[in-house]
Amino acid sequence: RTLDAAGRYVLPGVIDSHVHFRTPGLTHKETWHHGSRAAAAGGVTTVIDMPNTEPPLHSLELAYAKAEMISGQSLVDYRFHFGVREDTVDVLRDLTPRVATSVKVFMTGHHTAPSVIRDPAVLDRIFAVAAERDLRLVLHAEDDGVFSLLDTHRPAPDSYGAYEPHRPRSGGIVAVAKVIDLVRRHGTAAHVLHVSSAEESDMLSAAGAAGLPVTYETTPHHLSFTASDTRRLGARIRLSPAIREERDQECLWRAVVSDQITTLGSDHAPHTPQEKVRPAPDAPPGLPGVQELLTAVFTGLVRRFPHVPLDDHMMLLSRLCAARPAALFGLDERKGALTEGRDADFVVFDPSANWLMSSREAHTKNTWSAYEGWTFTGHVDLTVRRGAVIWDSHDFGDPDGQWLDARPLRLHTARPATV
Ligand code: NCD
Ligand code: ZN
Ligand code: ZN
Repeated sequence: RTLDAAGRYVLPGVIDSHVHFRTPGLTHKETWHHGSRAAAAGGVTTVIDMPNTEPPLHSLELAYAKAEMISGQSLVDYRFHFGVREDTVDVLRDLTPRVATSVKVFMTGHHTAPSVIRDPAVLDRIFAVAAERDLRLVLHAEDDGVFSLLDTHRPAPDSYGAYEPHRPRSGGIVAVAKVIDLVRRHGTAAHVLHVSSAEESDMLSAAGAAGLPVTYETTPHHLSFTASDTRRLGARIRLSPAIREERDQECLWRAVVSDQITTLGSDHAPHTPQEKVRPAPDAPPGLPGVQELLTAVFTGLVRRFPHVPLDDHMMLLSRLCAARPAALFGLDERKGALTEGRDADFVVFDPSANWLMSSREAHTKNTWSAYEGWTFTGHVDLTVRRGAVIWDSHDFGDPDGQWLDARPLRLHTARPATV
């Protein structure tokens, strides 16, 4: 097979380290068949799946059983973030890189996130165990204490549903401050997910610059929508943490282009249309995004930073979406770069294509996109996973994605020499 890539970029296959593909138990929202097609069409060759399934991923047995369920369904390679509940902290001591190198901690709860860690002593233990076992924590950092306090004086629900006055930015700021303090005390490596506000971004950039092992992610949704879009899109773009103001979005973009944000994750979190049209406080937060991740962020980059050379945008995207997620989660011996010895995972990307996104193009189970009606710049023409074409702009390849092993993270061996 010959390939004409004239005028195209070849990028390393995207590693989306934040998807909710909903197996087991929530397959009315998404399946691995559909989710991995959406991934392949978006240039994603590896995903790391979140543990808030039904039941949630709190045992080694379920991890092996889950891999078994996915086997033969997935176009893309996969890993799992392990989960934790207040009474399962000891299970983390038995984790091996085969099963997971990372643990997701929910500091607040909502519909699809029932296992909240509320007790500060338990949070302390989780940070201690993770530091001892070389596990990276990935955190949903919003503070449940702040929210429950506000819930008792809950204002009338916003009829648009996406903007959540009772789950304001202060919940995120308080939680991020707690995370930074815990990292300082335990030395745990912490990756804060879906950062939504200017304050959180500034705090995390400063903590990283000060040498703490904190990193952070933002999502294509937080970079693409603002609170004013909720007038049009309503609860469809309700997510947790909420979409915020223009000034937050500008701050996040600045943090992206100045290379302070560590990774981009799609937070692909589909629900059914029936679930999403419920009245505001009852609509579950989350929306699909694995297919749009690369294209939506590329579109934002070329529109907002038209004077930056395309090569620079592409290098930035390959750090944010491939090299760094591979390194953070122990996949960098196989993934994350187009170099000898790595898997032949790559994307042929046409940077000059302008095309209309519509729900008909969406491969997620419930076939819709919040970007319906957007003109995207940049198109994923071809996706190759371990040498096999899994997307060629029309058709998909074979669902023989593998459950990947990872290297041990060895987060705490490289202590600075004291002289
Ligand atoms: C996610 C989901 O639906 O699983 N929803 C969301 O709004 N982000 C859960 C999560 O990541 O918090
Ligand atoms: Zn989350
Ligand atoms: Zn999520």
